[in-house]
Amino acid sequence: MKTSLRTHTCGELNMQHLNEKVTLCGWIQKIRKLGGMTFIDLRDRYGITQLAFDAATQPELCQQIDSFGREWVIQVKGTVKERYSKNKNIPTGDIEIMADEITVLNESLTPPFTIEDESDGGDELRMRYRYLDLRRNPVKNNLLFRHKLSITIRNYMNHIGFVEIETPFLVGSTPEGARDFVVPSRLSHGEFFALPQSPQTFKQLLMVAGFDRYFQIVKCFRDEDLRADRQPEFTQVDCEMSFVTQEDVIQIFEGLLKHIFKEIKGIEVGDIERITWADAMKYYGSDKPDARFGMRFVELNDVLQHKEFKVFNQAELVVGIVAKGCASYTRKQLDGLTEFVKRPQVGASGLVYVQCHEDGTFKSSVDKFYDQADLQAVAKKANAEPGDLILIMAGPRVKTQVQMGALRLEMGDRLGLRKKGEYKLLWVVDFPLLEWDEETQRYYAMHHPFTAPKPEHEAILETKPGEVNANAYDIVINGTEVGGGSIRIHDKNLQKRMFKALGFTEEEAQKQFGFLMNAFQYGAPPHGGLALGFDRLCAILSDADSIRDFIAFPKNNAARDVMLNAPSTISDAQLKELGIKVSEWE
Ligand code: AMO
Repeated sequence: MKTSLRTHTCGELNMQHLNEKVTLCGWIQKIRKLGGMTFIDLRDRYGITQLAFDAATQPELCQQIDSFGREWVIQVKGTVKERYSKNKNIPTGDIEIMADEITVLNESLTPPFTIEDESDGGDELRMRYRYLDLRRNPVKNNLLFRHKLSITIRNYMNHIGFVEIETPFLVGSTPEGARDFVVPSRLSHGEFFALPQSPQTFKQLLMVAGFDRYFQIVKCFRDEDLRADRQPEFTQVDCEMSFVTQEDVIQIFEGLLKHIFKEIKGIEVGDIERITWADAMKYYGSDKPDARFGMRFVELNDVLQHKEFKVFNQAELVVGIVAKGCASYTRKQLDGLTEFVKRPQVGASGLVYVQCHEDGTFKSSVDKFYDQADLQAVAKKANAEPGDLILIMAGPRVKTQVQMGALRLEMGDRLGLRKKGEYKLLWVVDFPLLEWDEETQRYYAMHHPFTAPKPEHEAILETKPGEVNANAYDIVINGTEVGGGSIRIHDKNLQKRMFKALGFTEEEAQKQFGFLMNAFQYGAPPHGGLALGFDRLCAILSDADSIRDFIAFPKNNAARDVMLNAPSTISDAQLKELGIKVSEWE
């Protein structure tokens, strides 16, 4: 890293450099005085090197240092010497620089929080001074990790013949999917660009253009509510291939994921299991099951709907999970679980439990309705053993599955079954093509409107749209949807039928997606692809909870950049130029 201003970095000097004359540059992490010696920890991206000054022989230098503060930027010239008291925790810990010249390159205000691994700064403060937060090792290392992952992916994709092609950021707005971020046009007043939610249509056009293996590590923009795994601008590893089946796409990305795990984590991922969407819902109550642990659902309708308990009798689904070894849960713990499922985020009306005691007896919260023989039948059906706790919920099928899914994850957490450092990859396949929305009384594409139905279901697209499965697949790691894709419709007429099923008139479809349907008239090859959520992949591979830690300048929970104070108002002159009148909406 030699430049005109430095000979070495603060992370590379060791015993091999003894007695060399060196010049280092960096930030002052700490100044310490010990007897007649003054020490500075000098930090840069590469590490920390100790500088030493002797008050007896260098009184002026030591006096100069007295005026320095944390985070000042200095250049130091000196000689590499062996340390008396070595620091085994850092690579430069055997040496120090006996400095004979210091140049202050820049002063610094005292930072608003400590630049250390464990900082004293709160979230908001660190976001406001993100450039200082990025000096801290944990945050810096996350960005270095992100870089390593992106290079690994790029090299692999290049190696197997994928071409990286950039697609535009100023595109047309499409009302399908999430909300768009829009950009007003100065040259066409009253008209707006949108920022792409993904390069979906462009990558399909690239297939028409003949680039049969495309990829792009690309920013996408979605105006949706933030969560730990969602940012309004995020990055996808976006891919598309021609002349492929679903199996081909799955194989290619299995190859990529195996390569990533090997290169980055040193882990050999075996063949990745597949589960249908229907089974994922049935057994885990989620289309992105955390398969690090079992606790699969057991349907209990037939063993619990024969007594006078209305809640169960009237329910479409009575479903249970077995929490191993939890029969001894106290009243308080059981009440805690009921409270958990009643939280608005879960929304269940209640929870029934059956404790399978070691002595072979059972105790349940519905003992009034069910005798020991009934409870034994439940335990048998659920495969519960003495010492286990059975948790049961009832209600409309899908709603109850999702609520039980939340409880399953909660129990997984409580029992320590969602282990960090353990990775379970899973393909979820055979998604429904369409999803009915009660509020707007229409079907929506579950993935997006370009996803192909299973060929054997094409015929019922008009007659039984809700029963059509799609050639769509998601890759799930530890309960997070890391990527999704599908085989696309490449036939203009099938695409027209799909738009019709989604409630578009022919004019609306033509207006919004005419460019794609037109392109399909010029020899569109069969094609399909997938996009990985790059930020999510970074977080998962690092066992981190939030993708924010892997984004250099992320938005906060209110979707604001608190450092830039954006979004912000713009001047009247700018508004006028854009032809925008600000009026109050009801
Ligand atoms: P999809 O909408 O499933 O598919 O997105 C692909 C992947 O992107 C990630 N992701 C996000 N990450 C962070 N913040 C967000 N707001 C966010 N939204 C999505 C997820 C997700 O699995 N064009 C299709 C892909 C295709 O069909 O090829 C698409 O965008 O990890």
